This record gives sequence, C-alpha cells and structure tokens, in this order.
Amino acid sequence: MNAATDIGHPDLVAAIADEIRTSGPITFARFMELALYHPQFGYYMRTASGTGEDRIGWSGDFYTSSDVHPALSQALARQVRQIDEMLGHPDPFTVVEMGAGKGLLARDFLAAGQKASDSFFSRLRYVLVEHSPAMRASQQANLAPWAGATGRVTWRNSLSDCASGSLVGVMLSNELVDAFPVHRLVIEEGEPKEIFVDYRDRRFHESLRPLSTPALADYLQRLAQLEITFSEGYRTEVNLNALAWMQEVARVLARGIVITIDYGHTAQDLYGPDRRRGTFLCYHAQMTSEDPYRLVGLQDMTAHVDFSSLAAAGQDAGLPVAGYTNQMSFLMGLGVEQMLETLEPGSAEFQSLVQLLRPEGMGRTFKLLIQHKGMASPELDGLRFKPFFGSVLAMQS
Ligand SMILES: C[S@@+](CC[C@H](N)C(=O)[O-])C[C@H]1O[C@@H](n2cnc3c(N)ncnc32)[C@H](O)[C@@H]1O
Repeated sequence: MNAATDIGHPDLVAAIADEIRTSGPITFARFMELALYHPQFGYYMRTASGTGEDRIGWSGDFYTSSDVHPALSQALARQVRQIDEMLGHPDPFTVVEMGAGKGLLARDFLAAGQKASDSFFSRLRYVLVEHSPAMRASQQANLAPWAGATGRVTWRNSLSDCASGSLVGVMLSNELVDAFPVHRLVIEEGEPKEIFVDYRDRRFHESLRPLSTPALADYLQRLAQLEITFSEGYRTEVNLNALAWMQEVARVLARGIVITIDYGHTAQDLYGPDRRRGTFLCYHAQMTSEDPYRLVGLQDMTAHVDFSSLAAAGQDAGLPVAGYTNQMSFLMGLGVEQMLETLEPGSAEFQSLVQLLRPEGMGRTFKLLIQHKGMASPELDGLRFKPFFGSVLAMQS
C-alpha cells in the first residue's frame, strides 16, 4: 500500500473533502455514510474494483456466521417453518432479508427449505433488500438456482420500495444494523459533545462540537431514565439510523416476525463503565483498527448494537418483543446438538460448527432480537433456552 492509498480510495477521499469544503465539518455519521455508502466510491458500493468476496469472507476484510458454517441458516429455516405454521401457512409466505452481503445465508436457507416435502417451498417468496450493486451482484451469482424465471427470489433497493402492511412472513437481518452509520459522542466538561470531521493538509481531523440533532439528546435522555450516565472522557456511539430502520420494518410488516441478528448488548452493558472507549471498529484484511481516517472506503466500519433502544423503537412502532437471546441458545433451541452428533468430533466441519457456538466468541457476542406483529406472542423453538433473566431489554429502570 502506498502513501496515496493509505488515507483511502483517492476518488472517495476527494468527494468527502469536497463536501467538507462546501458545507464545513461533517458529523462522524455523515463521514461513515460516505465512507461505506457513497454511491460510486463507498466501501460497499464500488463495483469496478471487485465483488462481495473482496469484502466479506476468508479472502476479504471480515467474515460472518455464514462464511463459517450453514448451521445458522439451517436453524433459521427450521424456525421459519414453525412461524409459517403459527401464521396458518399463508400463500405467499415471504421472507425479507435485509443487507444480505454475499447472499450465503439466503442460499443455505433456500437449500434447507427446498427439502421440505409439504407446500412450504412452493409458497415461499424470498426478497433481498440490498442497496449495494456490488453486493447484489454477489447475491445474484450465489442465488442463481432460485432467481430468474421462478420469481422465488427477487430484489429491492430499499425498504421504502415495499408497500406499507404488504408483508406476511419474516423480516430477517444478520450484521446489518452494526453497519449503519453512527454518531460518535464524547463527554467533555460534563457535557455530551459530538465528533465532527474536517479535512486539512490532506488529512481528516476530528473536532468536538455541540450535538448535531435533538434526536441525540433525546436518546441520551432515554438512557438517563435507565440510570445510565457517562463519566468525563467517555466515548461512545449512537445509532439513530437503527431506530429509523426499525420503524420502516414495522411499517412494511402486516403479520409475522422480525429477527435481527447482530453483535450487541443491552443498553446497560453497551453504555456501561467497561466500554468507555465505545465499540467502534474498522476491519481490513481480517485485522481490526480504531482508525477510521486511513483506508477510507477500503475498510469496513462497525459499532455494536444497542438492543434495548432498538427494542423500544420497535415497541413504539407496533413490534413487541417476543424474545432476546444469543446465537448459542438460539441454535441449541433449534437442534444444533443433534447436528453435532452427526459429525465426526475434531473434523473440520465439527470445528466450524462449534465456532458458531463458542461462549467466548460468536455464540454469546451475537444476539437475536425477535419481535412480532399481528399474531399472539409466539413460543418459538429458538427462544426455548433463556440466557437472560426477566425483561432484560426493558427501557424502564
Ligand atoms: C456487514 S454486511 C452483512 C452481511 C451478511 N448479512 C452476512 O451475514 O454475511 C452489511 C450488508 O448490509 C448492506 N446494507 C447496509 N445498509 C443497508 C440498507 N440501508 N439497506 C439495505 N442494505 C444495506 C450492505 O451493502 C451489506 O450487504
């Protein structure tokens, strides 16, 4: 890597610098939005320089559960069959997957669903909501057997392309919400200030300014009701896009279940004293860094999800919580032990599957928020094992 690309993709850096020159320093959230989703040069959006494989997977910058083993997709397929039963076998039964990356979860889900001997597969419609042309190209390649003439798999650019109350089925995402642009805040002299990004001397620079929107103060106010307070110098992230997205999900769903999988925590854990530097991280070539101002547009950026605030936004929009669990408990509820029994202990496949379950890794870091609408609170198999006590997500203290 040479000095010119060290700061990032040259055209993207120029586009961000231009915007700053025109409008003045931008919020970190706007910087992250441009770095990841600038229509031509953003990390996820560029097509000229490669495919989804360059970003996600063993030869890319980071990997997800679907790169490790198909067990999560297979468990989701089993869970969705139970939801189909609870909804009375609607026709069509629609699964909307948002931010599907390379489409591996969809591929393994469809392969598992296809084995059903009843009418499920013939009623199933799988819709991928993806706004990145590069990612959509990878999805189309991986889902070729089901796309095309059958109409089984289709694509939308955005949830805003879906009519209100148009969907009966399941709305699903894995590692989508952590990829939304976040505001970054720092407590200075007892007050929350926001990180803005400037560009001078061919470098990006941070400065602290008053909060850019009252929505941030409202967010902190709701955290304060949980007795969450921040000490001097505390640095953290607020994902306002996640709340807006939750409202969109609620708008589209008529009847069914929302399953949101991501790394994250309750608000009390995410904003607790142990995380006083926040959870913001960049990923490049399977390495992490805390520096978003190099490799701009060439590295992924993420922040852990505040599941309490996400659940509260859903509740307000008509999506009550059915359950909150972690990946290990979800997989156990859906029969992962029986899957392990069929594999040779110590084999490569056994090890991969165990990686999804590891309590000190993917098994517990990944959480599932499950919400429902237009149906009674469901007793789902994936929620049989309870890793948390009581209503851990409740937004009242
Ligand atoms: C970290 S990747 C998730 C990968 C995938 N779900 C997996 O498990 O491998 C994030 C994905 O979300 C997409 N994305 C981000 N924001 C989006 C939005 N607002 N609408 C649709 N897709 C979005 C990105 O283009 C990318 O495909």
